[in-house]
Amino acid sequence: MLGLENKIVAIAGGSRGIGLATANRFAKAGACVVIGSRTETEFTEAAESITHSGGKALGLPLDVMSKENVNLFFERIEQQFGRLDVLVYCSGTNRRVPAEEYPEDAWDQVLSTNLKGAYYCCQEAGKRMINQKEGSIVTITSMTSHIATPNQSAYAATKGGLLQYTKVLAVEWGKHNIRVNAVSPGYIETSLNAHNFRNAAFRDNVLNQMPMGRFGGTDEIANAVCFLASPMASYITGACLPVDGGFLAGHPNIIMQ
Ligand SMILES: NC(=O)c1ccc[n+]([C@@H]2O[C@H](COP(=O)([O-])OP(=O)(O)OC[C@H]3O[C@@H](n4cnc5c(N)ncnc54)[C@H](OP(=O)(O)O)[C@@H]3O)[C@@H](O)[C@H]2O)c1
Repeated sequence: MLGLENKIVAIAGGSRGIGLATANRFAKAGACVVIGSRTETEFTEAAESITHSGGKALGLPLDVMSKENVNLFFERIEQQFGRLDVLVYCSGTNRRVPAEEYPEDAWDQVLSTNLKGAYYCCQEAGKRMINQKEGSIVTITSMTSHIATPNQSAYAATKGGLLQYTKVLAVEWGKHNIRVNAVSPGYIETSLNAHNFRNAAFRDNVLNQMPMGRFGGTDEIANAVCFLASPMASYITGACLPVDGGFLAGHPNIIMQ
C-alpha cells in the first residue's frame, strides 16, 4: 500500500532504537533495507532478524564520522543493488552538560555524528539519486530543532542545523525529483535517553506537560518516516513532521492570565 516494495532503503543508525523500528517497518512494506552502524553485532543481528521473518535486509559497517567509511558504505550498496531509493539519516548521539562546561571533545563528537555525518551521507546518496532522477531522504531531527532545553547545547545546535540542511537539500534537489523531509520525534525511550527514563521526576515532569499524556513508541516514529519516504507523500518536500504527542503545540498544564 505504501508503494515501497523492492525499494532499496539505506538507514544510517538502523541497528537499534528508532532506526531499528524504521528498518522493520520498511521491511514489512516490502523494501530491501540496508542497515548501517558501527557495532557489528547489532547491525548483523538487526538484518538477520528481518531476514528470518521473511524480509529483505543487509547489515553493513558505517561510521558516519568518517568520510572514507561513508563512501565505502554507499559504494557497497551501489555494487550490490545498482541503485538507492531512500536514505534515512537516523545516526545520532548526545551529551548533556551545562553550556559553560561543555567539553570540546564532546562538542566535536556530537557535531560530527549528528550534522557532519548527515552531510557526508546525504551528499553520497544525493549524487546517486540525481543520476537516477529520483529519490527520497528523511532525516531524524528532534524537538530541539524547534525549542531549547537545558544542557543540550551541542545536540540542539546540530538538530537545528540538520533541519535547515534538510530544507536546503529539498530546495536544491526538487528539480531532480528528490524529496527531502524531516521527522522530529518527541520523547521516545531508547538507549540514547534510558537514564532519563529511569528517573521518575523526569517522567512526571514531561508527562505533566504532554498533551497526549504518554510517551511515544519507536514504531510511531517509524510509521511517519515510512510515510514521508513513500510515494504516498509524493508532493511533500522540505517538510518537518513532529511526532511528539502534541508537545511542540503547547503544554496543557501551563496557565497564562
Ligand atoms: N529517543 C528519542 O527520544 C529521540 C528524540 C528525538 C530525536 N531522536 C533522534 O533519533 C535518532 C535515533 O536515536 P535513538 O533514540 O534511536 O538512539 P539509539 O538507540 O542510541 O540509536 C542511535 C543509532 O545511531 C547509531 N550511531 C551512533 N553513532 C554513529 C556513528 N558514528 N556512525 C553510524 N551510526 C552511529 C547507533 O549505532 P552505533 O552506536 O553502533 O554506531 C544507533 O544505531 C537520533 O538521531 C536521535 O537524535 C531521538
